[in-house]
Amino acid sequence: MIITIDGPAGTGKSTVSRLLAERLSYPVIYSGLYYRAIAAYLIQEELLVQVEVIKAIENIVVKSDKEVKVNGKDVSSQLRAPEVDRLSSKISQLLVVREKVGEVIKKEAKNYEGLVAEGRDMGSVVFKDADLKVYLDASLSERAHRRYLEDVGEGNLNLDEVLAEIRKRDEEDSQRKISPLIIPSDAFYIDTTEMEVNQVVEVITNKITQLKVKGSR
Ligand code: DC
Repeated sequence: MIITIDGPAGTGKSTVSRLLAERLSYPVIYSGLYYRAIAAYLIQEELLVQVEVIKAIENIVVKSDKEVKVNGKDVSSQLRAPEVDRLSSKISQLLVVREKVGEVIKKEAKNYEGLVAEGRDMGSVVFKDADLKVYLDASLSERAHRRYLEDVGEGNLNLDEVLAEIRKRDEEDSQRKISPLIIPSDAFYIDTTEMEVNQVVEVITNKITQLKVKGSR
């Protein structure tokens, strides 16, 4: 069973995916990590953002978010660096990069019977035939608030700045020409604005149970 979890920044996708996967004993593919891995590799190896360079990436091996290799080079320590943040966002707009990530993820998925795939286009592009396509949403102010609380320890931005960043990221994600963030017509839409993470996981788990019951009839 393939379950996709998509949605904009700050909706709790990663946490929900992790908790859901734990419940189901499924692995999770965090697709953002693959964009980050390519960006970190380009920076680390001082490579230009060129079609041939991206095409020459033969493997992206994600053992965990702390153990990632691209073409055999360990890029784990830089995945969350601000320059990787920026470059991953930029290169995620390129067709050659999106195709590469899609191809690597689909190949990886073949190893599993069940899987949770998290990102922006998992249900709309990469796993069009997923058994359940979850789309998580929340109001802009709630998402900014959550991100702000997450980052408080790092002491970078104030709430207004976080809100402006998220608004900008929303625009970029939903207006890019290739694989923009959309709500698939067959998505299971959840507005998480007023929900705790555990409630969200519960709602998705119930939906999966319903699907399984239906499937077994
Ligand atoms: O989810 P994240 O912040 O780790 O994602 C890193 C970047 O990759 C972010 O700019 C959005 C982009 N991304 C994407 O375009 N499509 C995906 N399926 C996942 C992430």
